[in-house]
Parts: sequence; structure tokens; C-alpha cells
Amino acid sequence: MSETIFLGVNIDHIATLRQARLALEPDPVQAAVLAELGGADGITVHIRSDRRHINERDVKLLSGTVKTHLNVEMAATKEMLEIARDCRPDNVTLVPERPEEITTEGGLDVTGAPEQLAEAVVALREMNITVSVFLDPDPAQIDAAAEIGVNQIEINTAAYAEVSETRKLGPTEVERVKVAEVAQRAHVAGLRVAAGHGLTYRNVRGMVAIAEIIELNIGHNIVARATSIGLETAVREMKALLVR
Ligand code: PXP
Repeated sequence: MSETIFLGVNIDHIATLRQARLALEPDPVQAAVLAELGGADGITVHIRSDRRHINERDVKLLSGTVKTHLNVEMAATKEMLEIARDCRPDNVTLVPERPEEITTEGGLDVTGAPEQLAEAVVALREMNITVSVFLDPDPAQIDAAAEIGVNQIEINTAAYAEVSETRKLGPTEVERVKVAEVAQRAHVAGLRVAAGHGLTYRNVRGMVAIAEIIELNIGHNIVARATSIGLETAVREMKALLVR
């Protein structure tokens, strides 16, 4: 019997286009509806301290309109925890944030569980929000995450994604195996395993082949494809690839 993987569609880039003109459209709330119609199992947005794409209005409206599952990526700061308290997404993914970065550059460092991070996990769990942490494929990070009471990890697939687009199969497989090994380690530790960052229609099947990965969060490449064929169809095409 075939199994399909949970597809979380990251719609930040719809808001990026809106913010490029400080306009009202395109609206990520409308995009979420289309993504769900195309088969998205969840909607993911990242609210950053500079509000360069997603803002509070978006998170609040998405929280009231998303019918599947709302995952909000954020840094573990006081300001962001207040937004979570106010908007009550289903899940929060804690990510690192560097103001000048173009996109999230790497996983969180959870080794030694900095106090702020551990407190954020407790606070979110008390709000009945499940908690995920975005981690590089490093066994030490997985072991540390298992200690701090998170429900899920999301493995950073950026390194795999980058080499996969170079036509060099050797390095691609090395990076794929790193993801597979930590996915298994996290699964054995009782954590739900997601992955994402930089995944495309070309490289996603390498992640689908990893049995422990039950969720993929994909944004930029779906939105890029949507500019040619429409968001609903772009999501449907990606969902069709997430079968094993
Ligand atoms: N997961 C996390 C934690 C992210 O920060 C991002 C990018 O916002 C994604 C997944 C999606 O990455 P992409 O847009 O490259 O598909």
C-alpha cells in the first residue's frame, strides 16, 4: 500500500511579492486557500522580526481560515511567543534568525539547550501548541532536541538541496544519507520527523525515499512554479510526488 507524505506549503513568498510594492495583493490568505485546494496538508509561514514578508495580520487571519494545519516558524523570542499566544497556530517551528540573512541559513543550536529556548518550548506546550525545532543533520542536535520536550524536528535539507542541483551524484548521496541517518535517530528517540529547505520538483524524491520523514515543508520552488501554472496546480503536482 502506498503512503503519502504530509505536505506543508510555505507561502512566505506570496507575502514577499506583496511587500515588494507595499500593496494589498497577492494575499497569503488567499494563497493558503488555493494551496489547500491543491492538496496541501498544512500551511507554513515564517514571521520574522523585520516582518519582511509575513506579518501579524497574516498569522491572525490564517489562524482563523486555514482548515488543515497551521505551522508558524519563528525565533524563540518574547515578542514571537506573544504572537503565538495571540494567534494560536497548531504548531510552532523554532528557527534561528540573523537579521541580514536572505533566508534561514542553518538549524538551531539546541545542544546545551540555551535557557531561552527551553523556556520557549515549555511556554508553547502550555499554550497547547506543538513544537518543532529546525536542525541541521547533526546527530548531537537530534539527541539534544530529544531532551528538551519538543514534539518534532525539522531536518534542514539545504545542503542536500544545494548539491542535488549540481549534477554530481556522489555528493548528493552523501548529503542524502546524512539526512536519512538523523531521521532514523530522531524517529527512534520518539520524535516526529519533518524536513525542508531548498526542496524542488527535481530533488524531492530523494527525501520521499526516507521512510522516517513524514512531513516536508516546501515553499520557494512551489511558488516559483505557481507563477507559470497557478498555485493550486503547482501544489497538486508536488503532492503527487510525495508517495512511497
Ligand atoms: N523549513 C524552514 C524551517 C524554513 O525556514 C523554510 C524557508 O522559509 C522552509 C522550510 C521552506 O524552504 P523553501 O522555501 O526553500 O522550500
